Amino acid sequence: MKIAVYPGSFDPPTYGHVNIVERSIQVFDKVIVAVATNSSKQTTFTPQERVEILRTLFEKEPRVEVDGFEGLLVDYVKKKKATAILRGLRTVYDFEFEFQMALANKKLDERIDTVFMMTDAKYAFYSSSIIKEIVRLAGETRGMLPPIVEERLKKKIYSKKGR
Ligand code: COA
Repeated sequence: MKIAVYPGSFDPPTYGHVNIVERSIQVFDKVIVAVATNSSKQTTFTPQERVEILRTLFEKEPRVEVDGFEGLLVDYVKKKKATAILRGLRTVYDFEFEFQMALANKKLDERIDTVFMMTDAKYAFYSSSIIKEIVRLAGETRGMLPPIVEERLKKKIYSKKGR
């Protein structure tokens, strides 16, 4: 069985992430969406909230598992008996960082390969931070976020702003 781990901060997950997961299950037998719980990033949602949101998004897809992980990614990949790390590539700007991470992970465990999937052009210019900024400034996010994510994000951001 071909298992891939799709790691990230998913703060919050966007349609870009959903698109990668949906396409990746055409290639792998099982995809584990792995939320980094010890990221150095300042996050809007707690790791538990991000896992819960992602589980809701993929509840109808039995070949997608959602989990949290901490520590080294390669250790988690081995623990889950996966053979590949899946990453989405949006534009050329992602490349350098992704290349560095892929090589570092390969150095840590040469049996684990990183597989890149091009993000659909529709989503190439989104990132979780850009979308959060748009919501914070009351802009239109139609087509960027699944409705349940949009609802949770608005609730979170507006409650912080005391609106
Ligand atoms: N569509 C839309 N946006 C996308 C996207 C897509 N398909 N793919 C990535 N993004 C965005 C994310 O929203 C995120 O935006 P933000 O920075 O505004 O929040 C950005 O691209 C990059 O985020 P992500 O893909 O989640 O990567 P990350 O840099 O947050 O996480 C880890 C990287 C968690 C995979 C990495 O730090 C890791 O493996 N950590 C574990 C520790 C370890 O093993 N370290 C050694 C690794 S070399």
